[in-house]
Amino acid sequence: MTKKYQVIYADPPWVYKDKSKSHGGGAESHYVCTPTSEMCKWDIPAEKDAVLLMWCTYPMLEEGLKLMAAWGFKFKTVAFTWVKKNKDGSVYMGMGRHTRGNAEICLLGTRGKGVPREHCGIYNTQLHGRGRHSEKPDSFRKDIVRLYGLDKTRLEMFARKQSEGWDVWGNEVECAAELPSAVSQKRAQARYDAKRPTGMLVRFEEAELRELDSQRKEGESRPAAVKRLLGFAP
Ligand SMILES: C[S@@+](CC[C@H](N)C(=O)[O-])C[C@H]1O[C@@H](n2cnc3c(N)ncnc32)[C@H](O)[C@@H]1O
Repeated sequence: MTKKYQVIYADPPWVYKDKSKSHGGGAESHYVCTPTSEMCKWDIPAEKDAVLLMWCTYPMLEEGLKLMAAWGFKFKTVAFTWVKKNKDGSVYMGMGRHTRGNAEICLLGTRGKGVPREHCGIYNTQLHGRGRHSEKPDSFRKDIVRLYGLDKTRLEMFARKQSEGWDVWGNEVECAAELPSAVSQKRAQARYDAKRPTGMLVRFEEAELRELDSQRKEGESRPAAVKRLLGFAP
């Protein structure tokens, strides 16, 4: 029987309709993206009383609410707003066809009775630096544990690394959790592997990214910098 979880933390790989990918920062060149319509079909392993915390970019808000409802959760609030900052502490300026993006939100929905909070001092708006593409600061994972308590069962969906105290699932990690969507995960893994030998998908380590950033010209995107410095388009 599939293990069920009280706390589910997810960072879905949204597919951006805007082909310039201005909002997504070119997510598809960093990892496999799965359409919301496909993710909506998944039966995720949540307990009868559970909470879902799901990252969503502003342009994908409708999709986020749709996915949350399809997974059987009722939207309650925005748990976190992550305002991104630069290394010098100033507020980051991202892309955007209208105003320029510098924040992401994590939607919170509950199923059944939800999960009662055990800590009443967690801020919903937080200022943190940025890591690699789409990486969320570790402190949010820690805050979720503080919010609901150590004793809860926790699953991180679409994880890219292991985290102590969490079962993880995703096509880039060794999965402790088994999801009914394993077929979809295998397909995502195959697409991901198929891209690698062509050089279309190149993943850089933290230190390499820092070095790359230090050599970027003003206003130059990371892919453009890679092309200029290394001679290929990632
Ligand atoms: C937005 S990223 C997650 C980033 C992560 N929260 C972090 O902080 O590094 C989405 C992840 O989901 C993976 N993914 C995409 N489609 C998938 C699928 N169908 N099954 C499993 N994983 C998938 C992607 O390869 C990527 O690793």
